[in-house]
Amino acid sequence: MRAIFFERNGGPEVLELRELPEPTPADGQVLVEVEAVGVNYRDIYEREGPGYGSRPPAVIGVEGAGTIAQTGERVAWSDVPGSYAEFVAADRGRLVPIPDGISTEVAAAAILQGMTAHYLAHDSYPVQAGDWVVVHAAAGGVGLLLTQIVKLCGGRVIATTSSDEKADLARGAGADEVIGYDGFAERVREITAGEGAAAVYDGVGSSTFDEGLKALRPTGFMILYGAASGQPEPLALSRLAPAGSLYVQRPTLLTYARTPELLDARATALFELLESGKLDVRIGGRYPLERARQAQEDLAARNTTGKLLLLPRE
Ligand SMILES: NC(=O)c1ccc[n+]([C@@H]2O[C@H](COP(=O)([O-])OP(=O)(O)OC[C@H]3O[C@@H](n4cnc5c(N)ncnc54)[C@H](OP(=O)(O)O)[C@@H]3O)[C@@H](O)[C@H]2O)c1
Repeated sequence: MRAIFFERNGGPEVLELRELPEPTPADGQVLVEVEAVGVNYRDIYEREGPGYGSRPPAVIGVEGAGTIAQTGERVAWSDVPGSYAEFVAADRGRLVPIPDGISTEVAAAAILQGMTAHYLAHDSYPVQAGDWVVVHAAAGGVGLLLTQIVKLCGGRVIATTSSDEKADLARGAGADEVIGYDGFAERVREITAGEGAAAVYDGVGSSTFDEGLKALRPTGFMILYGAASGQPEPLALSRLAPAGSLYVQRPTLLTYARTPELLDARATALFELLESGKLDVRIGGRYPLERARQAQEDLAARNTTGKLLLLPRE
């Protein structure tokens, strides 16, 4: 089978298309033919490593959708190592069945970022009707889905983006206000009549985290769920008191989907939103498997919107 392999950690050049034997499923695993692979920012952290995701030499990636080879059942997954490939051996408990009304491609596009957006808005900080919240990088994969889910919860979204095209997409997803990154805390204060936001959802990290603390209302929630611009400086907890008794969380989907039951419940909630048409997933780029390097480069260069997929059968 063809797969995207990395021999060592490093830049995009370490990603190579290789011809490898099909994986042999261990006990509790099944062989899955991959139809679409999800590209995520975490794949860049995994490639750059060490200490994140699979240790090289390995096939990279964790997300996708396809069919179980023996049964033909359509399934999706957000946490199966070695997913940038034509076949994966997957733990049965990490696979979720795809409902009839959802295409395999849409399931691959939505499963990881959609479940993330869902737990962020429902659990990390459960959005209340009328809340103002900040969604950074709102035209990105998580950002577009999170903006829509916050709106479904009755919240109001202040979105940040870096271009006019991205601003239009954020507005299309329901953002009430779209602003740039420069001086965003002050803009949030203006928009919220001096109060500040109930929560800041921050997947950008280094360049936004500190200012985000200044955008929060008293007892507001800083949810740092990623670091596309790099890790923020360590935070002295003593800063949280004078800033308004703030809460800070550094969550991961792995916690919120750590058992098959939690995974099933989250995926079911997500698929219901997709099937009912309440949630739309934007596929911003489709690449043949061998162009995985290009996909990661485009993502890191902020040249993408919505979800990127690799299509092993193209
Ligand atoms: N904790 C979890 O459970 C979890 C799960 C999934 C994803 N994540 C995190 O969520 C974040 C978004 O992931 P994604 O896959 O959906 O990616 P994405 O948002 O589609 O892409 C990253 C976006 O971040 C913005 N950005 C701002 N500064 C950047 C910089 N210096 N370099 C690169 N991008 C920058 C860009 O949007 P603008 O150009 O508009 O600024 C860019 O398009 C990542 O940090 C990822 O690790 C966390």
